[in-house]
Amino acid sequence: MSLPAHQVDVVKNKMSVSKDAGTVSQSEFAISAVNLCKTYGEARVVDNLNLNVRAGELYALLGDNGAGKTTTISMLTTLLKPSAGEFFICGLNGIKQAEKIKGSFGIVSQDIAIYQELTAFENLWFIAQLHGIPRKQALERIEMLLERSGLTDKANQLAGTFSGGMQRKLTIASALLHEPKVLFMDEPTVGLDPAARRQIWQTLKGLRNSGVTILLTTHYLEEAELLADRIGIIRQGKIVVEGTIDELRHKIQGIRSIAIRITGDVAPDILQNKIDKLPGRFSSQVKFDPLRNTLSFAQPKDSQLVKILHEILNWLEQEKIPFTRFATSEPNLEEVFMALTLEPHDGDESGHFSISDDVQFEHDYT
Ligand SMILES: Nc1ncnc2c1ncn2[C@@H]1O[C@H](COP(=O)(O)OP(=O)(O)O)[C@@H](O)[C@H]1O
Ligand SMILES: [Mg+2]
Repeated sequence: MSLPAHQVDVVKNKMSVSKDAGTVSQSEFAISAVNLCKTYGEARVVDNLNLNVRAGELYALLGDNGAGKTTTISMLTTLLKPSAGEFFICGLNGIKQAEKIKGSFGIVSQDIAIYQELTAFENLWFIAQLHGIPRKQALERIEMLLERSGLTDKANQLAGTFSGGMQRKLTIASALLHEPKVLFMDEPTVGLDPAARRQIWQTLKGLRNSGVTILLTTHYLEEAELLADRIGIIRQGKIVVEGTIDELRHKIQGIRSIAIRITGDVAPDILQNKIDKLPGRFSSQVKFDPLRNTLSFAQPKDSQLVKILHEILNWLEQEKIPFTRFATSEPNLEEVFMALTLEPHDGDESGHFSISDDVQFEHDYT
């Protein structure tokens, strides 16, 4: 499913920062891309991408695999030559002044970029030398970064023995050694367990609060929503929707769902019967997926959540429907995109609502 280009532009104009971009000159953006393109043969994988990130802002480029996130970051960090377009980092032209901009940013690439056979300290020391940081300053910086990453105790352990989360923290620390004003991070929490992800989020929040401008890519809506001041959704190399988290949240909320796993004790047709009798009773849409034995309710705005939960639990109790698990599910990016780009139909407040495949049941009541 894709929208006609003009419709996408309408949505973009409505939600983008363009309303105040006119008053901010290019040099006031920490990161700015103008019609940036990358083509491989016939394929245009980054397609006239325009992006403006203000100093101190945390901007999340949110998109599925293959959307063009890594290619964009690679161009903005001078690792890859754009096929067309321009970009600016802290007001400097990224193509004409490529050497000059290198000192102003740090990059945490998608892959863990540390030396497994060196200790945490040696890794940082090596990078400090690459940057030509004077010895005393380097030692101070390393000590501080190890401390902030919670790795002080592990300074002399081989990085190869670290967990994924610790390796990621060391990678982030090494990107910060030269005190960059701008940090690029390509999917920094991919492959990490939930606890490690939360720690990285903490690190990112800390960096943002200390004034570092961050351009982060992710395919997790939750991550973008939690961390970013602004989100741009990238599809096929274009930013198709952009907005502050407050602008986007309202619409996204309507496509979240509350999922309830029913025990096998109730026959699907009986359950469906009970659901068919429901219309009008709930202020939330209900669906049943017999394959996964899961009931889903469109999740309303935060203010109505308690009310809906009451309604649901009362109904389950009244109808003697036993359930084992309870979760809120995240919409996939396609659903988010559709919700953000299509106007709701009259009387269809909840927008597009479907049972997502990636329901994570965290609370088990068995
Ligand atoms: N060196 C390359 N040659 C040809 N196609 C490429 C190359 N690098 C990336 N691509 C293609 O560009 C698209 C975007 O890739 P990428 O930027 O890695 O996406 P993402 O990081 O969002 O997953 C993909 O379809 C990918 O296959
Ligand atoms: Mg990528």
